[in-house]
Amino acid sequence: MGDSEGSILNFSVMEKIAREGYLSVFKDYGVYGIVGAVVVAILIPLLISMVFVGKKKMKQRGVPVPVPGEAGLVVRNARSVRLIEVPWEGATTMASLFEQSCKKHARERFLGTRKLISRDFVTASDGRKFEKLHLGEYQWETYGEVFDRACNFASGLVKLGHDVDTRAAIFSETRAEWSIAFQGLFRQNITVVTIYASLGDDALIHSLNETQVSTLICDSKQLKKLAPISSSLSTIRNVIYFEDDETSRDSNVSRHTDNWSVFPFSEVEVLGKNNPVHPRLPIKTDIAVIMYTSGSTGLPKGVMITHANIVATAAAVMTVIPRLGKNDVYLAYLPLAHVFELAAESVMLTAGAAIGYGSTLTLTDTSNKIKKGTKGDASELRPTLMTAVPAILDRVRDGVLKKVEETGGFPKTLFNTVYKRRLAAIEGSWLGAWGLEKLLWDVMVFKKIRSFLGGEIRFMLCGGAPLSGDTQRFINICMGAPIGQGYGLTETFAGAAFTEWDDISVGRVGPPLPCCYIKLVSWEEGGYLTSDQPMARGEVVIGGCSITAGYFNNDAKTKEDFKVDEMGMRWFYTGDIGRFHPDGCLEIIDRKKDIVKLQHGEYISLGKVEAALISSNYVDNVMVYVDPFHNYCVALVVPSHQVIEKWAQEAGIVYKDFAELCNKDEAVSEIQQSLSKVAKAARLDKFEIPAKIKLIPDPWTPESGLVTAALKLKREQLKAKFKDELQKLYQ
Ligand SMILES: *[C@@H]1O[C@H](CO)[C@@H](O)[C@H](O)[C@H]1NC(C)=O
Ligand SMILES: *[C@@H]1O[C@H](CO)[C@@H](O)[C@H](O)[C@H]1NC(C)=O
Ligand SMILES: *[C@@H]1O[C@H](CO)[C@@H](O)[C@H](O)[C@H]1NC(C)=O
Ligand SMILES: *[C@@H]1O[C@H](CO)[C@@H](O)[C@H](O)[C@H]1NC(C)=O
Repeated sequence: MGDSEGSILNFSVMEKIAREGYLSVFKDYGVYGIVGAVVVAILIPLLISMVFVGKKKMKQRGVPVPVPGEAGLVVRNARSVRLIEVPWEGATTMASLFEQSCKKHARERFLGTRKLISRDFVTASDGRKFEKLHLGEYQWETYGEVFDRACNFASGLVKLGHDVDTRAAIFSETRAEWSIAFQGLFRQNITVVTIYASLGDDALIHSLNETQVSTLICDSKQLKKLAPISSSLSTIRNVIYFEDDETSRDSNVSRHTDNWSVFPFSEVEVLGKNNPVHPRLPIKTDIAVIMYTSGSTGLPKGVMITHANIVATAAAVMTVIPRLGKNDVYLAYLPLAHVFELAAESVMLTAGAAIGYGSTLTLTDTSNKIKKGTKGDASELRPTLMTAVPAILDRVRDGVLKKVEETGGFPKTLFNTVYKRRLAAIEGSWLGAWGLEKLLWDVMVFKKIRSFLGGEIRFMLCGGAPLSGDTQRFINICMGAPIGQGYGLTETFAGAAFTEWDDISVGRVGPPLPCCYIKLVSWEEGGYLTSDQPMARGEVVIGGCSITAGYFNNDAKTKEDFKVDEMGMRWFYTGDIGRFHPDGCLEIIDRKKDIVKLQHGEYISLGKVEAALISSNYVDNVMVYVDPFHNYCVALVVPSHQVIEKWAQEAGIVYKDFAELCNKDEAVSEIQQSLSKVAKAARLDKFEIPAKIKLIPDPWTPESGLVTAALKLKREQLKAKFKDELQKLYQ
């Protein structure tokens, strides 16, 4: 993975959590204790289930809305007839929501950051140096204090000479100052441009230039990246950087270059404190954020998010997560430049919850950057809520299962038995899901796995990409918490659909959030119709309060993807294909642009085929490709180092390095056989199974620009990079 500090994909972290948690169970309880407990656990639920034989009743979560003259199927959340626009009266903008929440919770904890105690370097056996941090307790600032800091920052910015009619950009990893700067800018109705820290230079230059940003707010790490591209950043006048614990004042940051002035964040705050400026508050239709998304193709697009969009999503999510409030503690570590994290933190602000900041590399006690014997973010914070992307949860699951497999023997049998019982219970009935047996297994088998995330998680928010049913169950069982799977896009400020905490089904994304409607529109060409039985299918179209104002500086694309109906409602055409279950929950089943036609006219859904192939042990990543002039498909496969090397060893294959192994016919044929097997198991058609494959030795990471930060394939980039390889596959 390289030193991908900005990315959200540090898998090894979560893998370790899972493995070590699993192992320590056996150290603590010993085999006899476990056997005793197994016996008890199997008897008790048997008795209970004989007493209560409950019947499940389907809960209606989404209901159709009759719309005269509408051909498609329109569904709303069952709990509210009218769309929810604001969390409470008066909170119509992010600025007013922030001010009111800070007043209401003035003395409560709001933003927490860990203090750096020491920074060491350890040298590994191969001579590489690793940074290890010893981080202290969380230091909290109250809602009242954060409000003052945001106001001071806003005043300081004006005092520095920032022209409030120009935009400011935040280009930084997630941290408390990110939020403070963000809220400060709204005090002066300044539109914030957000940029992913892992985007390349070209994307950065493009976004800043396109939006004519005059003040750039960044962390000290990003500051270093600016110098080499400064000549391309002609609109920037001021650069404000967040200081790190030790690189602060006396470091070598040059204060004035030819083109811009550089200020530490704290200095701007002090300036503002001594020179207060009147606020200039926005109204709900003003653009709060222009969020650049790493699209799957071409240059990033800036999505214009209004204040109304943010408060609507926050208000809607408040109604679907139970008991959300000031007792909640949220662990923030995903990039704030991603809509999912920004929406989640907006919800926490609305709820008056405490937000503790962390990072992927310091998340747990065994994280790469955590000094041995000291605490990771999760065990220090003990969060009740956290977010995750499916890619991370998949790795957690794989990690635990791998460890189970390696350990073998009795622990393996126990884990598998308990897991199966829990699975049956969850899928069977509520009683089973929450009964005594759960308590027992939680204490015996799962408690340790949980303690790696602090042991208090009561709800996990998952979004960014579809989560597989298996993984969802696995996390339900091992972490003991429901997963709220969100479905939404930057274009809908994350708000679209959200699974409810008491929904025990998998693979679905829940009913529409109460801030929007979801409509299905037939896509004849792809063969998805709203008249389909047993469920209506079609393109997912989202309308309502969370639908953003469109793409910055791109009317053509805005007109293509956004439509306004006669009632004045904005709708966004997602390009995703979904179907509605009878209870009003949406399931995403395909994606429009990933469906391609073979020469003979058969359609191949690339996403569907890839999802099937990736379940092969050999496969780390895979892209299926179709040349429309042929009647078969091919695939680029990134093999799993470990698995393929293990196979090679057993098969007695000699090779110099991994790249050479990937070129060996034996390896290709072994993997191809495995692909055929999983493809058949997934009941793919013959033409959907890649006829030829090419093994690619290097992993596809967001840094290499081949996948998005949420790990979605960037097909155009992959096609360009592996043009020759793909061509050869069709010879
Ligand atoms: C910046 O944008 C202007 C148009 O607004 C364009 O002419 C110029 O080439 C752009 N510069 C860079 C470095 O992208
Ligand atoms: C300042 O900007 C100009 C173009 O606006 C550029 O030519 C020059 O190289 C920049 N100076 C530095 C030190 O980056
Ligand atoms: C500061 O920069 C100067 C020259 O740019 C360099 O000689 C000096 O070593 C730097 N000091 C530190 C502490 O990095
Ligand atoms: C906020 O700023 C935008 C753009 O600069 C402007 O169009 C709008 O009128 C401002 N809103 C208020 C209430 O001043």
